[in-house]
Amino acid sequence: MSGRWSLSWASCAILAISVVLSAIPVSLSVGSATGTLPADPPRKSNGLTDAVQWDNYSLFVHDQRVFLHSGEFHTFRLPVPDLWLDIFQKMVAAGLNGVSIYIHTHFDAAKLAGLFVVLRPGPNINAKTTAGGIAHWITSEVAGELRTNANDWTAAYEPYISGIIDAVVPNQVSRGGPVLFVQIDNEFNETSSHAAYCAQLEAQYREGGVVVPLTYNDPGEWSDFINGTGAVDIYGLDSYPQGTTSACLDPTDWAPVTDYHSYHSSANPAQPFYMPEFQGGFFDFWGGPGYNACALLTEPAFQDVFYKQNWASNVKLISYYMFYGGTSWGGFPYPVVYTSYDYGAAIHETRALTDKYDELKRQGLFLRSSPEFRKTDWIGDTTTGIPGVTLNGSAAFVTLLKNPDTGTQFFVARQANSTSTYVHEVDTVAAVSLTSHRANISFTLTVPSSRGTLTLPQTMGSIALNGRQSKLIITDYTFGARGSLLYTTASIFFAGTIGERDVLFLFGNADQSHEFALTLTGSGTRSASSRIQFTNSTAAGVTTVAVSPGSAGLLAVWESPSQLVLFADPGTAATFWAPVIRSPTASTVLGLENYWQFGTNRTVLVGGPYLVRNATISEGTLALRGDLNASVPLTIIAPPSVKEVTWNGERVDVRAEGALLTGWLAQSTSVGEVKAPALTGWKFADSLPEIQAGFDDASWTVANKTRTNIEVKPLFGNRRMFCEGHVLFRGHFNATGSETSANLTIYGGFAFAASVFINDQFISTVSTNASTNNSQPTSPSIIGVDHVNALFPFPNGSVVPGQDNVVTVIVDNMGNEEYPDEKSARGIAGFELVGGTFTTWKVQGKIGGYTNFPDKVRGVMNEGGLFGESEGWHLPGFD
Ligand SMILES: *[C@@H]1O[C@H](CO)[C@@H](O)[C@H](O)[C@H]1NC(C)=O
Ligand SMILES: *[C@@H]1O[C@H](CO)[C@@H](O)[C@H](O)[C@H]1NC(C)=O
Ligand SMILES: *[C@@H]1O[C@H](CO)[C@@H](O)[C@H](O)[C@H]1NC(C)=O
Ligand SMILES: *[C@@H]1O[C@H](CO)[C@@H](O)[C@H](O)[C@H]1NC(C)=O
Ligand SMILES: *[C@@H]1O[C@H](CO)[C@@H](O)[C@H](O)[C@H]1NC(C)=O
Ligand SMILES: *[C@@H]1O[C@H](CO)[C@@H](O)[C@H](O)[C@H]1NC(C)=O
Ligand SMILES: *[C@@H]1O[C@H](CO)[C@@H](O)[C@H](O)[C@H]1NC(C)=O
Ligand SMILES: *[C@@H]1O[C@H](CO)[C@@H](O)[C@H](O)[C@H]1NC(C)=O
Ligand SMILES: *[C@@H]1O[C@H](CO)[C@@H](O)[C@H](O)[C@H]1NC(C)=O
Ligand SMILES: *[C@@H]1O[C@H](CO)[C@@H](O)[C@H](O)[C@H]1NC(C)=O
Repeated sequence: MSGRWSLSWASCAILAISVVLSAIPVSLSVGSATGTLPADPPRKSNGLTDAVQWDNYSLFVHDQRVFLHSGEFHTFRLPVPDLWLDIFQKMVAAGLNGVSIYIHTHFDAAKLAGLFVVLRPGPNINAKTTAGGIAHWITSEVAGELRTNANDWTAAYEPYISGIIDAVVPNQVSRGGPVLFVQIDNEFNETSSHAAYCAQLEAQYREGGVVVPLTYNDPGEWSDFINGTGAVDIYGLDSYPQGTTSACLDPTDWAPVTDYHSYHSSANPAQPFYMPEFQGGFFDFWGGPGYNACALLTEPAFQDVFYKQNWASNVKLISYYMFYGGTSWGGFPYPVVYTSYDYGAAIHETRALTDKYDELKRQGLFLRSSPEFRKTDWIGDTTTGIPGVTLNGSAAFVTLLKNPDTGTQFFVARQANSTSTYVHEVDTVAAVSLTSHRANISFTLTVPSSRGTLTLPQTMGSIALNGRQSKLIITDYTFGARGSLLYTTASIFFAGTIGERDVLFLFGNADQSHEFALTLTGSGTRSASSRIQFTNSTAAGVTTVAVSPGSAGLLAVWESPSQLVLFADPGTAATFWAPVIRSPTASTVLGLENYWQFGTNRTVLVGGPYLVRNATISEGTLALRGDLNASVPLTIIAPPSVKEVTWNGERVDVRAEGALLTGWLAQSTSVGEVKAPALTGWKFADSLPEIQAGFDDASWTVANKTRTNIEVKPLFGNRRMFCEGHVLFRGHFNATGSETSANLTIYGGFAFAASVFINDQFISTVSTNASTNNSQPTSPSIIGVDHVNALFPFPNGSVVPGQDNVVTVIVDNMGNEEYPDEKSARGIAGFELVGGTFTTWKVQGKIGGYTNFPDKVRGVMNEGGLFGESEGWHLPGFD
């Protein structure tokens, strides 16, 4: 987070200007002779509940049109339930109203924060998890094909889905809970055995009392599960436009945008356009470039261009994968990825906010502020031509969305070459060559409006796009109770009512010019900034405001008792928060009291803090809760009734400056006093007693399983019980003295390692190559190497003739592959004692194996079979 604004308006001259007091209402149906509003098309539902309905434009929840703006979060990647509210609050603070979750049975935190939940419980989830989330015991014991209607697979998953149903049913939106959708499995195609399986899952949910819509996510424009067996209520399309195999390796090299509108209009035009997963970052792999590269690949400019391209495609439900990636603890990851699942997401693995979060907030608050955007028709674009619209500037590309009821027009503009770059920093030494790479363009737009045809901008020359940038140019937009914006080339950060005042907060780059025209209401003050020029439009009552390039900061463009118009650069805008304030009076949908739009439309604007988590107003006091990472000036736009402000319970001195309350938030000095305790009294113990003479493995499992479900070749392995983390094998032989080496074939997955000992002597460690030519492996066919065959020669004198000798193998397993290779071979598939014969092999993994593990709190993935793990050395309370 960066950006400070100049409080330039504290010194601005007060101009007493009388203005037209009553706003002239925007004609409600531009171009309609009768003036009657087009009716909504008939709503659809699944016939089981009216709480969630839809038409061809958007979803309706409890009779209200919504734009579902959601982020993906895997609770198991932040396995501290107390911290989930932190992520949820950060989502809501970015303007989101939904969260997409795989497996989760406690919904209260989402409800407290005010988020709808899209539950996507699999049974297969992929998500770069071992076996794609399918329990390891299933990968071993189910002979039938997984994710089909095979009887043993069905029997294996049904109890799991039944547990999901028990958690979901009382938490559905129809019962005042947060659960909005349940997704059927994950990214699957509709072949007959798949479809029969999905139909079976759907029947189980319905029989169990799940009434909310069932959904599907299609990874490849397959148009599956829209019609036919297993068809869901609402179909969705996943998209990772920069998701090629080596995406993060070359993070500034973008693939271009896709026009998804034409796909949607042919695949499922009767449903709203849903994107259950859109690229929010990307995963990194062993030997990959690291998550900073993935964050750069999906930087704010990517969000700006690609997310708004989705808007241009008329998407009205979307979730970003990931919003918070987190950590793949213990045995969770599948072989290709390492422990961090940061994903380069908007919230860092540490839970710190990033500049991508700022961009999502700018977009999220706009969407939250703009009911007119929830219902739009796709009118045309630069390729098809847009009736009545002229684009002057061949380097630009524009798509028009129009609200048929209000006539509000949203022109989504980007460069025709969507990958066109912008050099942010001018290197003075190499200025000439850098300049030649600049791809800043400008254009003008002639558009119809309620006040006739307008050429935008009217006074400022042109509209600028700096390289990889996208903007919405909007006409006939309403804000708050009476606000009427004829047009804007600046972007909208926030629009709404605060107290009795209609507030419009616009932003735009400080190195560009911007223009907007609106009806100023009330008797008030115009900005005296030299950046701002007011012109009385020829249209009665409309004032044109031109903002010329200048220094960054917040400008109060217009301030009256009934209206406040603000302008800032994007960085300054992102320092503001609009916390959802629960309304004491509003009649709301039961259970959704904390939800924006459903429980309340009340907010304030708070500029400065690192994060505002929530706010209440009571008896003239605005109580803010949030975080600071520095001492900062505080700027608040609140109802006039607010006289006092508290920050995390402590009073803050504020003073009124025009429409603002200003103050100073001091970062607590006590933070500096935290001292890390000295680490003393270190102890150690041998964590590998298995190689010592006399170690007793009598209680271990005999490793005599010679088949797995997918491998017909002999496999001395652990398929039956052990797979997570480290697994140890002990191969016994009665030595004659002629044994010279062991020849072993060990399966541990891509990037695994194994160490081999003869008695207590180390022989060597082997591993599969973790970074094959820097190409990102996605399946065993690409991975190629998930096993090692090697000869382990016994050092001189290590074998003791005439007694039991032991070859110990420690395998560090990498998890199982994802679909369709969940039944990955793991274990010792081949063994030969050169010069002798093994008598028995024993195997030991985590205590209790796949199902009888004792630690049900931390779960099956928390431990492997190392001696220290089995003794609980890592657990609290161990002596
Ligand atoms: C613009 O309109 C306002 C309000 O009607 C008026 O006070 C002002 O003088 C006008 N300015 C110009 C330059 O005409
Ligand atoms: C369905 O998916 C499977 C597995 O990815 C693939 O082998 C098959 O070709 C796909 N079938 C169709 C019809 O897309
Ligand atoms: C599904 O059926 C609807 C209604 O018949 C049709 O409009 C749509 O094009 C179909 N979609 C696909 C992908 O077959
Ligand atoms: C939705 O359906 C209505 C009525 O059929 C139609 O006029 C409108 O263009 C459609 N809009 C979208 C976005 O599909
Ligand atoms: C689009 O822009 C990129 C990056 O500036 C450039 O490499 C590419 O050649 C351009 N494509 C076209 C078709 O001009
Ligand atoms: C909030 O505003 C929307 C219009 O955008 C309205 O439909 C809704 O009922 C309002 N909610 C409350 C709680 O007042
Ligand atoms: C507000 O945030 C605080 C801090 O996270 C939390 O303890 C509290 O429950 C929240 N209250 C509401 C109403 O969201
Ligand atoms: C494997 O060993 C166990 C325990 O000694 C024994 O019960 C089982 O019959 C053996 N299985 C095979 C296939 O040898
Ligand atoms: C080790 O075993 C493999 C598989 O049976 C075999 O191909 C290889 O030749 C053996 N190596 C030696 C040195 O015996
Ligand atoms: C191995 O040797 C021990 C004695 O050291 C003997 O008891 C045992 O039967 C032998 N096992 C085999 C399989 O030869």
